[in-house]
Amino acid sequence: KFRAKSSKTIVVLVPDIANQFFASVISGIELVAQNRGYSVLLGDTRDSAVREREFVRMVETKLADGIINLRPYKKEDAILPQDDILSVSASSCEGTPSYSVRIDNVGAAKKAVSHLIALGHKRIGVISGLKENPHNIDRFNGYKAALADANITYDPKLVVAGDFNYWSGLTAAEQFSIMKPRPTAIFSMNDEMAIAAIRGFKDKGINMPEDMSIIGFDDMEVSRYCIPTLTTISQPAEKIGEKSAELLLQLIEGKKPETEEYILPYEFVIRESIAPPK
Ligand code: RIB
Repeated sequence: KFRAKSSKTIVVLVPDIANQFFASVISGIELVAQNRGYSVLLGDTRDSAVREREFVRMVETKLADGIINLRPYKKEDAILPQDDILSVSASSCEGTPSYSVRIDNVGAAKKAVSHLIALGHKRIGVISGLKENPHNIDRFNGYKAALADANITYDPKLVVAGDFNYWSGLTAAEQFSIMKPRPTAIFSMNDEMAIAAIRGFKDKGINMPEDMSIIGFDDMEVSRYCIPTLTTISQPAEKIGEKSAELLLQLIEGKKPETEEYILPYEFVIRESIAPPK
């Protein structure tokens, strides 16, 4: 049976389709793909390697030409990168061994936490993402580097484990509110958790930013509308998507991209959620 060489379809693997950051990356991918006559097939993998494998199979059987994986690469990953599968890692982490597009997560986190330190904060809490998530590891290293630069001793008691979703930010705020002494500022490893934490602190009668500062990560649109508006790291989500799609299409068309790793600029956006400690 005749089979066209190219299916003009690319697969995009998403760990969490409900997160607005990923939605924006996907819209950047769609833009480039559509312009070039490619269809995008979305695979919500819920962070599961088994589900990822099903989509890899689609490329193996030529139902799709290549994969953009939005799950940051881990050393244990069995499937990607794989020699015979064309793939790009979008929103990757340090040390990704394949074509990848990301921001400097370590530098961005360091910048945010250094700003809190410059405002006078010394007890800075963290709402972390999933422990083994590479973005969590990179951002955590940035947090620690900022503390080390200012000679502030790292205190593991100030780290509350979250999972990058709203609910964990709310429960983290509850835990911080009963700590003695309480931190005066929080670095949240994404906006979803930060926004839920703002609600959680308000429920406990802790006023922001007077009694507690908070910084997020991503710059979701809602960060401009919550009260207080959220200081955060702005990731160029759509651009990450566009660049990843351009890279994958280059590979599909047999061209060699100039660089393997593209690090796009982020921005530190200062809004109402931070102030000097009382
Ligand atoms: O997995 C969720 C997080 O990872 C997002 O909020 C974004 O920060 C991404 O890097």
